[in-house]
Amino acid sequence: MRTLDDLLTEGVEGRRVLLRADLNVPFDKEKISDDGRIRAVLPTIRDLVTSGGAVIVCSHLGRPKGAPDPKYSLAPVAARLGELLGSAVVMAEDTVGPSARSIVDGMGPGDVALLENLRFNPGETSKDDAERLAFARQLAAFAQSYVDDAFGAVHRRHASVYDVAALLPHYAGHLVLREVEVLRRLTGEPERPYVVVLGGSKVSDKLAVIETLLPKVDKLLVGGGMCFTFLKALGHGVGKSLLEAEMVDTCRDLLERGAGKIELPVDVVAADAFAADSPHETVAVDAIPADKLGLDIGPETTAAFASVLEGAKTVFWNGPMGVFELAPFAAGTLGVAEAITKVDGFTVVGGGDSAAAVRQLGLDESAFGHISTGGGASLEYLEGKELPGLVALEA
Ligand code: 3PG
Ligand code: MG
Repeated sequence: MRTLDDLLTEGVEGRRVLLRADLNVPFDKEKISDDGRIRAVLPTIRDLVTSGGAVIVCSHLGRPKGAPDPKYSLAPVAARLGELLGSAVVMAEDTVGPSARSIVDGMGPGDVALLENLRFNPGETSKDDAERLAFARQLAAFAQSYVDDAFGAVHRRHASVYDVAALLPHYAGHLVLREVEVLRRLTGEPERPYVVVLGGSKVSDKLAVIETLLPKVDKLLVGGGMCFTFLKALGHGVGKSLLEAEMVDTCRDLLERGAGKIELPVDVVAADAFAADSPHETVAVDAIPADKLGLDIGPETTAAFASVLEGAKTVFWNGPMGVFELAPFAAGTLGVAEAITKVDGFTVVGGGDSAAAVRQLGLDESAFGHISTGGGASLEYLEGKELPGLVALEA
C-alpha cells in the first residue's frame, strides 16, 4: 500500500489531491454532537496543506437517497473543519456539478475545499458498476492524486472509496494506516487475557464478529440492547425490551458454544418508556417486569464486567452498554468505559457510537490505546472480511 508519506516524498506542491474522509458525524438537531471523525483526519489534511497541495475533501453524511437533501448537507461540517484547521474551508454546493468545478478550478496551494455530500449523487452507492465508475471519473477529474483516509467507509464498495482509486495514483492516509495497524494487532496474537465487550442494539449486526471472535477471546461481555435476545435465550422474560425473536435460537447456540466465555448482565435498568424522564428501576434479569424495557445494564453487572476487565491484557470494545445519550441510562456505558481506561494493556474502542460515548461522557481519550473511527469497518476487519476500500488501496 502506498502511503501519504510516499505522496509527500513525491511532492504535492501546486497539485490537487482528492481526499476521501469519513465526516459522517452525529448531530443533535442542527449541532454536531461529536466531531471526533473530523479531528481524526486533520493530520492528513495539515500535511497536505503544509506541503503546498490543494486539498479537495469529500465525504458522505447519513444515508440520503441519491439526491440532494438539505438535511444531510455537509455545510456544518465545512464550518467545523475550518475552525479546527484555523483557516476557511470553501464548501461546494454540489458534488461534481458547476459549483464544485468552479471552486476546484480556483484552488491554489494550501487551499482546502469540501464537496457536498457524495450520496447526493446516485453514482456513489450504486450497485451498477458503470454508474459508479461514471461518478468516480468525475471525481477523479478534479485531482492528480487520491488519498483515502475514510477508514469508517472502507467496507463500502462505493465510487469514492473503491472505484476512484483505480483511476488515480492512490495512497492511504495517516488515519487509515493507524487503524489497520491496530486491527492487525488484534487479529494477530493478542496478549492474554483477551476480553471483548460488545453492546449496541442488534445481535444480527454483531453475529459474524461474535462467531469469529468466540474461539479467540478469553471472555466476551455482552451488554446493550442486544443482551436481551441472549437473556431470552436463557429463558428470561424481557418485557418490552429490544428483542430479535428470530435470533433467539442462534443466541442459545452461541451460549452453548461459548460456555464459560460469554458473560451476560445479571441486572438491568428497566424503564416505563424510552425517555430521559421515564420512571425506572434496577431489576434482576429474571425479574424484568412485562410492561418495562431495559435501557442499561445494572450496577451489579457493571461491577462484574469491570472485574473481568481488571485483569485483561487486550481489550476490544464495540457498542454502548445502554442508552448513554439519556443521562439515567448512561451509567453502564460510563462504568465499563472507565474500567477499560484502567486496564494495564492494549485497549481499543471500535465504532462510531462507543467512540462518541467516550467523548460525550467526558472520558480522557488518551487513556485508551486506540479509539477507532470505524464501527462497521472495524467489525468487518475483525471478521476477516475483505474490505473494498483497502483492496483498492493495495492494488
Ligand atoms: C458509519 O458511520 O458507519 C460510516 O460512516 C459508514 O456509513 P454507512 O454505514 O452509512 O455506510
Ligand atoms: Mg454504519
